[in-house]
Amino acid sequence: MTLLVAVKGWKSEDWTEKLTALLPGQTVARFPEDEVDLASVRYLLAWKAPEDLYSRLTGLEAIFSLGAGVDHLLDVPTLPADVPVVRIVDPNLTMRMTEWVVLQVLMHHRRQRLYDRQQARSRWQSHAQPVASEVRVGVMGLGVLGSDAASALARLGFQVAGWSRTPKQIDGIECFDGAEGLDAFLGRTDILVNLLPLTPQTRGILNGGLFAKLARDGAGHFGEHGPVLINAGRGGSQVEDDILDALEDGTLGGCSLDVFETEPLPRDSELWSHPNIIVSPHIAAESDTRALTRYVAEQIKAHEAGAGLSNVVDRAAGY
Ligand code: NDP
Ligand code: OXD
Repeated sequence: MTLLVAVKGWKSEDWTEKLTALLPGQTVARFPEDEVDLASVRYLLAWKAPEDLYSRLTGLEAIFSLGAGVDHLLDVPTLPADVPVVRIVDPNLTMRMTEWVVLQVLMHHRRQRLYDRQQARSRWQSHAQPVASEVRVGVMGLGVLGSDAASALARLGFQVAGWSRTPKQIDGIECFDGAEGLDAFLGRTDILVNLLPLTPQTRGILNGGLFAKLARDGAGHFGEHGPVLINAGRGGSQVEDDILDALEDGTLGGCSLDVFETEPLPRDSELWSHPNIIVSPHIAAESDTRALTRYVAEQIKAHEAGAGLSNVVDRAAGY
């Protein structure tokens, strides 16, 4: 069997070397660097692979997305309809995302940017500080990443709710679902965390109309300065002009963004220098080559042994 690695923007030999060691006796090749009979390729590890590649892979049995999100693949018009797409679900990635979400929630909750500004001026001044149990966090997306981040925040004492497409039951989390659950979820939320996948339904969902529905009666500074938006899902879900307007008129009090409408974030974007926005360069949960090659190799071994693939994307749902 041949596994083809077509991962634009990554050092593909990092992936092929590890996968070769994990899959002895199998051919692991890079595209476009290695000469390979494309018809013999059974598995593809893809990140922004050339669109014309898919029609040349006539023996393909599975496509592995190099990422938890699959919008980069499902948007490709040449993607074969009958080949399963497997996404990344891995504790290493989940842990990284939960770290980032907890960090951002605490940055806003504990007003770290304000204390940074005071430090720059050698200013010794304390501010009123609610405890976590007075603050309501709402997590959009209660999947692998959202549910783990929500549970970690609940363990810190925050009042945590989540919103998903289908109903959920998670210990310690108030669960809302569907279009009919959204307003109630937003209305009890001081800090909104987005971990939704990008689909036609979630594109542009983080807009001015949604921000206006967030709670404005939160404890301490959230009531005074407006609620907070934290987005590590996808930039296509946010309307950046609306974010800037909402920060300007106080509909939002602060923001942490890891993902953007255009990536890399253009140098002239106002988001870079806004005092109430924390920007990170899509690193909330970076893919770890060791963990993810192990995951792909295990999936291939299970498939070859007839056990089937796990974490196969539901093409109709779009994630
Ligand atoms: P999952 O597929 O496990 O979870 C997705 C969640 O979103 C589910 O709870 C799902 O609901 C919910 N959802 C989807 N569509 C809707 C909708 N229309 N309305 C309400 N809820 C909806 O994904 P993961 O948790 O693994 O990953 C989430 C996203 O995080 C990825 O798609 C990717 O975009 C992003 N990501 C970002 C990274 C970064 O570094 N910034 C790293 C990794 C991922 P239900 O449970 O009912 O199906
Ligand atoms: C992912 C990402 O989807 O890194 O895994 O964004």
